[in-house]
Amino acid sequence: MNFTVAGTGSALPKKVITNDDLSKIVDTDDEWIKKRTGISSRHILSDETITDIAFMAADAAIADSKIDVADLDLIIVSTVSSDYLTPSLACIIQGHIGATCPAFDISAACTGFIYALDIAKNYFQSGNAKNILIVSADAMSRIVDWTHRSTCVLFGDGAGAVVLSKGSDLLAIKLTSESNLDIISIPHVTGNSPFSELKKDLSYIKMDGRETYKFAFAAICKNTNDVAQLAGIDVNDIDYFITHQANIRIIEAAQQRMNVPIEKFLNNIDSAGNTSSATIPILLDQENKKGTFKPGDILVLNSFGAGLTTGAAIIRWSKTTN
Ligand code: ACO
Repeated sequence: MNFTVAGTGSALPKKVITNDDLSKIVDTDDEWIKKRTGISSRHILSDETITDIAFMAADAAIADSKIDVADLDLIIVSTVSSDYLTPSLACIIQGHIGATCPAFDISAACTGFIYALDIAKNYFQSGNAKNILIVSADAMSRIVDWTHRSTCVLFGDGAGAVVLSKGSDLLAIKLTSESNLDIISIPHVTGNSPFSELKKDLSYIKMDGRETYKFAFAAICKNTNDVAQLAGIDVNDIDYFITHQANIRIIEAAQQRMNVPIEKFLNNIDSAGNTSSATIPILLDQENKKGTFKPGDILVLNSFGAGLTTGAAIIRWSKTTN
């Protein structure tokens, strides 16, 4: 016994920033960004907060699930960029939706959604939950250096959410962590301690793009094979691949290595960019609302990020389109 996906939701800020818009603030151009990453535009917070966007995603997932908020047993939020260090975004969402269950945030960078699924699995298996809300929300625009062309063009803001109910649709899940501060890191806010004698690093994302690319490609291929084996299915029997939207070239390289038809890889990187841990639930929701999935479809979710962390899950889709 673990869970089934009962509802999905997502939200993106209303302001759309195109590659041409970015070329006015850093030395870049549409052709470079599209060719190297697959991104044409991204949504960036302007007069909203990431809390507002997370509320919209949570509301939509609850509406789609048709579950009463009083029946939620837990709220898990994955984020590295919420509006408050404390209280957690999960507690803020709890108040907004009018729930009374426990709520907490986790930090596993872009892999946060898969880590949250694994935590949820354990709550269901131990009999401690019947319904769980997961929200993944990130405001990458507050942690990229907007003068640094190699990173600011990659990211967007957004939130995705799922409501999980007791079921048996998680067929396999795998997480990894490997401590590494050199490839991707975001220093914390430094404060203004008059006693600190340390050099203050600005709180911007630092990433070695090439090393991230190699690590991500290897992780997607290995983790897909590993979770397929754990689930006792052939990779060719997977209907849809929902992969962290970091770079279309990483996704296409993995698709070619695994020799899977490209149509099975669902993407929205073109219009949303990399929204960190929100990419998978946003894409899952957009495809759910389009009616892409039919009951019985097998989906593999695959992510990677700072930590270094990776995670993959195989789920069976049982939900019928509303
Ligand atoms: N516009 C124009 N030129 C640029 C830009 C830009 N925005 N950014 C870099 N360049 C230049 C570089 O300066 C370099 O110029 P040089 O050859 O004169 O030195 C050239 O383009 C090539 O730069 P590379 O960094 O080698 O380019 P690469 O092909 O590796 O692409 C990229 C960079 C897109 C970052 C790629 O490495 C990548 O996607 N890596 C993976 C990133 C990732 O997956 N991140 C997600 C995980 S972390 C998370 O999600 C939070």
